[in-house]
Amino acid sequence: MIIRKTAAELEKMRRSGLLVYEILHKLGGMVREGISTYDLEVEAARLVAEAGARPAFKGYFVPAAGERYRFVLCTSVNHEIVHGMPSPKRILKTGDIVSLDTGVELDGYYGDSAITVGVGELSEETKRLLKVTEESLELAIQQARAGNRLFDICGTVEKYVISNGYSVVREYVGHGIGTHLHEEPQIPNYVDRKNENPRLKEGMVLAIEPMVNAGKADARVLADKWTAVTKDGSNSAHFEHCVAVTSNGPWVLTRP
Ligand code: MF3
Ligand code: CO
Repeated sequence: MIIRKTAAELEKMRRSGLLVYEILHKLGGMVREGISTYDLEVEAARLVAEAGARPAFKGYFVPAAGERYRFVLCTSVNHEIVHGMPSPKRILKTGDIVSLDTGVELDGYYGDSAITVGVGELSEETKRLLKVTEESLELAIQQARAGNRLFDICGTVEKYVISNGYSVVREYVGHGIGTHLHEEPQIPNYVDRKNENPRLKEGMVLAIEPMVNAGKADARVLADKWTAVTKDGSNSAHFEHCVAVTSNGPWVLTRP
């Protein structure tokens, strides 16, 4: 069942969403050559605590990993797709890209968002990967309207990414969000006719999160049980927003 939120609940989710935005915006501004992904983790933890919120990822049990996640942030560098773990040994260098993904719980409601940021000057091809991934999210957001169906979102990402010569990751998907980090429905970045295709209704909140590989779609998980990487070593980008379906169209909760 897809849980629909009241206007009062959406206002609470807006507060969570804006907090996640502020955190990612500040962390994005810290990204430069020489900083470690753990430096970003420390600042993220401080910002969540300062806001009186709870980190949504830290302590979250993920069945595929078989354990709880240990950090506030996921920091996925270059060919890492998602769930990269912050480390003081992971020093960013010019030309790298890093996905910063975080979630918070504030007043019982969750927010979740991700951005991919370049370190210094990027190659033209890497810039294009970031641009296409972010554009695929923007196009998908425009589909989050009452009367549309879930596949309108999934198919919009898939079509745009493929037409630009990239591939979408199959193993990881977006999700509904509310009083839990992950609610129904699952939101793949591709259409699979075997999946359900519910009609979108006012009050639904969707975390849409394209994960796009420059090369082939295939992914594998490292021995650390968390870090998902591209099998072919190609770069991967990730952007995510929480979007409410409203009578005024899509409302992106995770940006001003
Ligand atoms: N943003 C991801 C998601 O929405 C990360 C959550 S997994 C966690 O699924 F373990 F890091 F919490
Ligand atoms: Co998410």
